[in-house]
Formats: sequence, structure tokens, C-alpha cells
Amino acid sequence: MRIEDARAVVTGGARGMGEHFVRRLVECGAATFFCDIDADGVETVAAATGVPGTVADVSSEADVERVFEEATAALGGPPNVLINNAGIIRDGLLLKRDRETGTLVPFPTARWNQVLAVNLTGPFLCMRAFAQRCVEDGVQPAVAVNMSSISRAGNMGQGNYSAAKAGLVADTVVWAKELGRYGIRVGAIAPGFIRTPMVESMPPKVLEKLTNPVPLGRIGEPEEIWKAIAFIIDNDYFTGRCIEVDGGLRL
Ligand SMILES: NC(=O)c1ccc[n+]([C@@H]2O[C@H](COP(=O)([O-])OP(=O)(O)OC[C@H]3O[C@@H](n4cnc5c(N)ncnc54)[C@H](O)[C@@H]3O)[C@@H](O)[C@H]2O)c1
Repeated sequence: MRIEDARAVVTGGARGMGEHFVRRLVECGAATFFCDIDADGVETVAAATGVPGTVADVSSEADVERVFEEATAALGGPPNVLINNAGIIRDGLLLKRDRETGTLVPFPTARWNQVLAVNLTGPFLCMRAFAQRCVEDGVQPAVAVNMSSISRAGNMGQGNYSAAKAGLVADTVVWAKELGRYGIRVGAIAPGFIRTPMVESMPPKVLEKLTNPVPLGRIGEPEEIWKAIAFIIDNDYFTGRCIEVDGGLRL
């Protein structure tokens, strides 16, 4: 599919990689719509780019339905590109020993559920709403891109995030198998550590420890992930696979 023919929805488009994808889609001539849970961010990015956006939580079924209704109106037709990008981290060990008391502190269930809700249920709800409209309205070709992570391999302190990102790649395969007959392709990208607020919020020592073993010796740039998105949109024989863009790092 040519990018300029896209009517694209980007989730989590108010900052970081999502914001970069919104800007690049528009530069490539795609009709673009975005959502984010951060109301101030939506306002700022919409004002700066002229791209319509809405405040929504991807883990809410009602919000996701509304996003696709608003997007269909704003884009002049049902979306034919979905970038499932919104994500959060709530890191911690399964069991942590308190340094002062020596007691074992178990990882809170609420933090487990939060990450699964946003990073796995969110993409599922968006994929379902997207595909339903494509099939009902005969929109094809169509393509969805799921943002997984290098952590899908299993990253210490990220049991919730690793599970969600591994699940998302498994479902990329499932949805590609189920939706190919409708002309809908589904791809995934597993980035390594990329320069965004999510990564820049990490303590410098942690960041240094993470980047030292990267064969290319640096963190990646959002543009380098955009190039993988552009490839997935453009290549009509790509589906059900995950592209790793991680500077060669293995966790
Ligand atoms: N930055 C990295 O190094 C890296 C590496 C691998 C994977 N990823 C993944 O790439 C995606 C983008 O990461 P980023 O670094 O740009 O993150 P970020 O934190 O900079 O931006 C994420 C955006 O998603 C939004 N968001 C959070 N919860 C939401 C919800 N419930 N509904 C709607 N929007 C919500 C946030 O408000 C924010 O604007 C995420 O899925 C992340 O897990 C990032």
C-alpha cells in the first residue's frame, strides 16, 4: 500500500515515537488521526501539526469505539492503517527484598493488570474495531502495525511488559492468519532502546547499563522505527511477522 493512500490512526500519538509517526505520516501525504490518554499532549500535538486527535484510553472499549467513529469522520472514510503504538511501563521484580526490613515485597497485582490492559488489551480492542470496519465496509488493502519490544524475549523487572509484548507478537501472527482473507495485513516491530521520554526517564546509570551491550553502541532514534513502519505499510507481501530494530542487542 502506498503511504500517501493511507487513512491512518496512531494510538499514543501525543509524544515519543507515536508523535514522530504522526508527523512522518503527514509528511508522506497520509490522512492521519491520533489518540492519547494525555489531554494536554493531544492539544499540543494537534495544534503543532494540524492533525486531528482525541483523548482516549486504549484499554477502554467505549473509548476505542469512539476513536474509530471520530477517525472515520475526520479521515473521510474508515481507517486503512492502524499503528498500535500506545504503551506504558510499570517495572518491578516479582519479589523484592526490602533493604531495611528484609521482608519480601511481592509485585503489586494492580501494576501487572495496568500494563496488560494498556499494552495487550488496548491493541486487541483497536485491532478489532479497525478490522470490523475494514471488513464491513470492504476497505482493502489495509494494514496494522503493532509495537512490541525487545523485552518480549524476557527482561528482568519487566514480567508484565515482557508478557504483554510477547503476547502482542503472538497475536500479530494470529490476526494475520485470520484477516489475510479480507486483504488486511498485520505486522509487528520489536524496537530496542529508542530515544523517547519513556527511555529518557530512566536513571542515567540504568540507561548506560542498557546501551553498553548494544553492538552499534547507542540507542536508536524514532526515525529508525518509522522506517520499519514505512516498510510494513509499503510491502504488500509482509504479514504475520515481527521486525527487530534494536542495534543488534540481545537481552
Ligand atoms: N522507547 C523505547 O525504547 C521502546 C522500546 C521498545 C518498545 N517501545 C514501545 O513503543 C511504544 C511507544 O513508546 P514510547 O517510548 O514512544 O513511549 P512514550 O511513553 O514516550 O509515549 C507513549 C504514549 O502513549 C500514551 N499512552 C499511555 N497509556 C495510554 C492509554 N491507556 N491510552 C492511550 N494512550 C496512552 C502516553 O500518554 C504517551 O503519549 C510503546 O508501546 C512502547 O512500549 C518503546
